[in-house]
Amino acid sequence: MSQEQLRPVRVGLLGIGTVGGGTFTVLKRNQEEIRRRAGRGIEVTMVADLNTELAKQVVGDAAQIVSDARAVIANPDVDVVVELIGGYGIAKALVLEAIAAGKHVVTANKALLAVHGTEIFAAARAKGVIVAFEAAVAGGIPIIKALREGLTANQIQWVAGIINGTTNFILSEMRDKGLDFDVVLKEAQRLGYAEADPTFDIEGVDAAHKATLLSAIAFGIPVQFDKAHVEGITQLSATDIKYAEQLGYRIKLLGIARRRDNGIELRTHPTLVPMRRLIANVEGAMNAVLVQGDAVGTTMYYGKGAGAEPTASAVVADLVDIARLLDAAPEARVPHLAFQPDEMSTLPILPLDEVVTSFYLRLRVADKAGVLAKITGILAEQGISIDAVIQREADEVSGEDGNQTDLIILTHDTTEGGMNKALAAMQALPTVLAPIVRVRKEELA
Ligand code: HSE
Repeated sequence: MSQEQLRPVRVGLLGIGTVGGGTFTVLKRNQEEIRRRAGRGIEVTMVADLNTELAKQVVGDAAQIVSDARAVIANPDVDVVVELIGGYGIAKALVLEAIAAGKHVVTANKALLAVHGTEIFAAARAKGVIVAFEAAVAGGIPIIKALREGLTANQIQWVAGIINGTTNFILSEMRDKGLDFDVVLKEAQRLGYAEADPTFDIEGVDAAHKATLLSAIAFGIPVQFDKAHVEGITQLSATDIKYAEQLGYRIKLLGIARRRDNGIELRTHPTLVPMRRLIANVEGAMNAVLVQGDAVGTTMYYGKGAGAEPTASAVVADLVDIARLLDAAPEARVPHLAFQPDEMSTLPILPLDEVVTSFYLRLRVADKAGVLAKITGILAEQGISIDAVIQREADEVSGEDGNQTDLIILTHDTTEGGMNKALAAMQALPTVLAPIVRVRKEELA
């Protein structure tokens, strides 16, 4: 049979909001280009959305519109179900039902896969269907494809990414304008960069979901969001961003997955990054992911991590992959998590105490003889080596009297557990006058 004679792949969209609308638009606008690449057409034949009026406005008469997502799953003429509802609730039930009905699934739902991925991928394997999720991590950046296929020759050593645009926008504004978190968050909400309920973004949960997926495909481990360290940006102050800048660093919310001999570090937290690194200069709502492989060295992927058409770009790429593989044996496919399912690694996710990083510390201290010596003595007792120290003169500490000063210390690599012990001892000193600020630092060399 010539490729021209293959029937189009029939797609059912669950949700016609921002990404669903973008997917419909991109598929329609680029249909000829996509057909030439996929070897067959890809058509949205059915759309489910509770808001059928909105669906009608977006797709017109081009597809059947229903309010019940299960009608799409039950339709034997739908080959692929695209889940764009989000969350762990009804989306999970619908994805599992679509798999049970023998449909391939494309999803942008990082929360669902990071938490329930093991169950979903197992169900998909048992049924011989694909669950594709390029759009779930860093929106339009093809990072899943790059890690799973382009870098397949490598032993991946670490992945570190700015994988949440909302928080990167807020951090960029805090730095540019010297404003505090709360003020910038309100502005970001007014401009539509942050959601009305921004909890998942600002608390680091969204980035940690994505880091969890990256860790699984980088190292061939199961998705284990429950073992990830998750820390957002709500406690960051403009003061620390300014001091970091003076020391040659920017603060970014990074999702990090790093291989160590005895396990995998999986953590999301604000991180000082040297200003000279490309990733430190990724500003506004943009995303970027660095991957370090043993053969290739460091590679970086940059682009829009959200938005209608950037995310649709990833959804459609998955649809093209499925279109090419529709009639191929399941064994011919790239495994969901990059490694063959019976070859998954048992390397554990390391407890946070065993994570190794360097640190930025800010201590508000009494400005008198012997204070610095006591503090450096405590760090030395824990075997923590100091990289740099600056002290801001008392008159630079706004609103305080001249007997206090800010002491800023950068350390070399140490364990989190060792640092916690040192922090407890330093905090107990009568000359340390406020809670010590600690931000992790990565050289990403
Ligand atoms: N809310 C995310 C972000 C996009 O701000 O990057 C979807 O994951």
